[in-house]
Amino acid sequence: MLDLIIRNANLPDGRTGLDIAIQNGTIVDVGPHLNAQANREIDATGLLATPPFVDSHFHMDSTLTYGQPRLNESGTLLEGIELWGELKPHLTVESIKARAMELCHWAVARGTLAIRSHVDVSDERLLAVNALLEVREEIRPYIDLQLVAFPQDGYFRYPPSAANLERALDLGIDVVGGIPHFERTMAEGAASVKILCELAANRTLRVDMHCDESDDPHSRHIETLTFHTQRLGLHGRVTGSHLTSMHSMDNYYVSKLLPLMAEAQIHVVANPLINITLQGRHDTYPKRRGMTRVKELLEAGINVAFGHDAMMDPWYSFGSYDMLEVAHMGLHVAQITGVDQMRQIFEAVTFNGANVLGLEGYGLEPGCNADVVILQARNPQEALRLKPARLFVIRRGIVIAETPPVISRLELEDKKIEVDFRR
Ligand code: FE2
Repeated sequence: MLDLIIRNANLPDGRTGLDIAIQNGTIVDVGPHLNAQANREIDATGLLATPPFVDSHFHMDSTLTYGQPRLNESGTLLEGIELWGELKPHLTVESIKARAMELCHWAVARGTLAIRSHVDVSDERLLAVNALLEVREEIRPYIDLQLVAFPQDGYFRYPPSAANLERALDLGIDVVGGIPHFERTMAEGAASVKILCELAANRTLRVDMHCDESDDPHSRHIETLTFHTQRLGLHGRVTGSHLTSMHSMDNYYVSKLLPLMAEAQIHVVANPLINITLQGRHDTYPKRRGMTRVKELLEAGINVAFGHDAMMDPWYSFGSYDMLEVAHMGLHVAQITGVDQMRQIFEAVTFNGANVLGLEGYGLEPGCNADVVILQARNPQEALRLKPARLFVIRRGIVIAETPPVISRLELEDKKIEVDFRR
């Protein structure tokens, strides 16, 4: 007797009408009309079953602080950083934990069961580090939470960051972060990339830097990050987050850069909601979109994932932590609307994110972890269009969240009509 069987599901790769058999937290079989019995059976009725959504770039220490201690009046990136600096003295471990746990509950409800969160280490007390390390352990049964030591105020520009970052790694933070474009000079930015990559190589850790989050076409720290990744043999373990300056770079330069990034197996994380909101602020018209070159990166064979980045915090006032909202914005901003391309966009918030984090056992094949989300949509394109309810969220074979189907019931004179926006 199996623990759970999901009947008649469609998969993100286009296969339809499959059953998924689950035993001891693992997927043991996938196929049509499996001859098996289970303690619990879920009829997916031809809807989409996907591995969980992955948010490969978030800031859990600042989320849900909207309005504290004041609003971001200009709505800009730099006022956001200023505002975070004003808020930091008022933070406590308890308040950070409470907000992070609330965010995790939203994540489970949305079927997002893996998150990479940057943690600000430009703080001698390391409050956010201590708080989020506790959250990582408490939420482990439900969410894979990976933490990045992020020197928000600069590695060199804020001198205590160097020691704080090492302390954070000693305490168990998973990934080495950085912010080279925020250093005082291009040279200091490049030097920070070198030191931080060497630190990661010495500790056999992954790297994920906020890199070139700017409209300046000469912000080329991704070139340096790619070089040191290749030099130190960190292939497949390094992520460039944002890379918004690539939007504005010279095409000839990019034609040299992309193959080098592919060679070093650099991962790229774009943050569509935040990039379209914060970039291009110095432009009048035409106004640049600012998001990195998602289509061209994918065509070069580079792994591109999407992150939510910020939500109801000093940088971004919106959001309900829906990775399909992120993907929806991403496909519009990147103009990725071809049929096969849309499937790639769905992968940017699922499989590609799992690659960024290096998750093991991710997927819907036999032997994978039994982590499955059933959506009120039949395929990835419909999911991107509707951002539908997550009917069932399953972690290691156990249903940990359910949402009833969202259906509007109309009464028009003598007719009763149900609308769920599917065709
Ligand atoms: Fe970020």
